[in-house]
Amino acid sequence: MQIKIAPSILTADFSRLGEVVKELEKSGADQLHLDIMDGHFVPNLTFGPPVVASLSQITSLHFDVHLMVEHPEGLFSSFAAAGAKSLTVHAEACTHLHRTVQMIKDLGLRAGVALNPATPLSFVDYILPELDLVLVMTVNPGWGGQAFITAMCEKIRKLRMMLKNSGSTAELQVDGGINLQTVKSVVEAGADSLVIGSALLRERNWSQAIEQYRLLAVEAAGDSWWHSPQ
Ligand code: DX5
Ligand code: ZN
Repeated sequence: MQIKIAPSILTADFSRLGEVVKELEKSGADQLHLDIMDGHFVPNLTFGPPVVASLSQITSLHFDVHLMVEHPEGLFSSFAAAGAKSLTVHAEACTHLHRTVQMIKDLGLRAGVALNPATPLSFVDYILPELDLVLVMTVNPGWGGQAFITAMCEKIRKLRMMLKNSGSTAELQVDGGINLQTVKSVVEAGADSLVIGSALLRERNWSQAIEQYRLLAVEAAGDSWWHSPQ
C-alpha cells in the first residue's frame, strides 16, 4: 500500500499560484489538495472552479478537491469540468449523504466524505462500500496552520479497523496540523493519505521535505499494526 502525500496550497502565495503548483509537482507530490471554502460551512472563503480550471492547464497532478461548503451538489459538475479527479464533501453539510456520494460517482469521479473532529465515525457506517476516500479532519476546518488534535489518532485507528473489517479499499486521509512531529502518529494509527499544508509550504526545499515526509511515513507504516506489505 502506498502512502500518498497531498500538499494543500491553502497557505501558498496566491500571487504566484501557478509556479507553486508546478514546483510541488516537480518536488514529487502525489496529488494536489484543493481547499474550497464558502464562508458559510466555514467562516473563510477561498476559490472556485475557474481557478481549478486554470491550474489544470499547467499540471498533470491529480486534483483532490475538499469541499468545505454547504449544499455542495450544485458545484459538482463545474468542478468535474475544471479537472477535479476526486471530490470530498463534509458529512455535516449533506442531509442526504448517500445520494450526494452517488452524484459524485455518477460523474465518474472518486467520492470522499470528510468528518469534522466532533463528528462520529458512525456517519459513514452504511455508506463505506460506496466511498473511495474517508477524510478524518485533524483540526476544525477553516484555516491552515492550526494545531493537530491528538484525540483524532484514536478515531483514525477505529476507522482503519472499520475499513479492514469491511474489506474497503478506500483511502484514509488526514488533514490538518500534519507536520514532522505528528506524521508518524497518524500513519501508525492507519492513515494512508496525508494532506500537508503550512508545515510543507514553509520549508525552503519542497522536494527534500516531501522525501522526508515520505520516509517517515513509510517507516511508521512498516512498524504499524494495520499495514501489510504487498
Ligand atoms: C483546513 C484545510 C486544510 C489545511 C491544512 O481547513 O482543510 O487542508 O490546508 O493546513 P495545515 O496542514 O497547515 O493544517
Ligand atoms: Zn483540506
